[in-house]
Amino acid sequence: MRILAFGPNGSGKGTQGTIIKERYGLDHIESGEIFRHHIKAGTELGVKAKAYIDEGNLVPDDLTTPMIVDALKKSNDRGWILDGYPRSLPQARSLQQMIRELNMRVDYVFEIELDREEAKKRIMGRRICAIDSNHPNHVAFEAIHPAEKNGELVCRVCGGRLSMREDDQDEDAINQRHDIYYNEDDGTKGAMKLFDIDCDARYIRVDGSRGISDIAEEILSEIEEGEAIKLRKKFS
Ligand code: CO
Repeated sequence: MRILAFGPNGSGKGTQGTIIKERYGLDHIESGEIFRHHIKAGTELGVKAKAYIDEGNLVPDDLTTPMIVDALKKSNDRGWILDGYPRSLPQARSLQQMIRELNMRVDYVFEIELDREEAKKRIMGRRICAIDSNHPNHVAFEAIHPAEKNGELVCRVCGGRLSMREDDQDEDAINQRHDIYYNEDDGTKGAMKLFDIDCDARYIRVDGSRGISDIAEEILSEIEEGEAIKLRKKFS
């Protein structure tokens, strides 16, 4: 099973990717993780990519794409879920070409739809528990809102001290990433359009304003339906 994951930074796309990966035993191929791996291993691509990242620039496609191809080739037989790539229309075209060359096909594309302002609010409202990073806290969500102790916000689970990730408060960086994501022409929205029109994958569009488990349930049930159709075709 091969899946493309789309959703703006702040939409919980990574979380959904993890849920789906675990359900089907897929490889979670995440572009940021791939960069870190190549940089740590000191590969030729990694060394070049690091120079861009250190300067605060985006890694160009002629470095990114070969890293992704490499990861797709090494993926396990059950398949993969690709997250963070393609980020642009040119990358989407490269991806279509390389999956053809690798004799692969994409089975599902899911898109978590979320309003740009809402996505930003979600990023900026995250709070990290100092004692256990698996204790989610968020100032914009009642269900996981931090607790208050002596006039200070603390972890709602354990009462631990809360902090913010520096990246999460960098509005310029968030806006920059969202500029690319919400660009309908040659940005990520443009890439999605290409896969929506020019691909025989099942396109799953979900409302990202709901909770994590509701979103997961919808994506998984769409995949199950798609798999059932595939089975019926196979035996008819
Ligand atoms: Co805690």
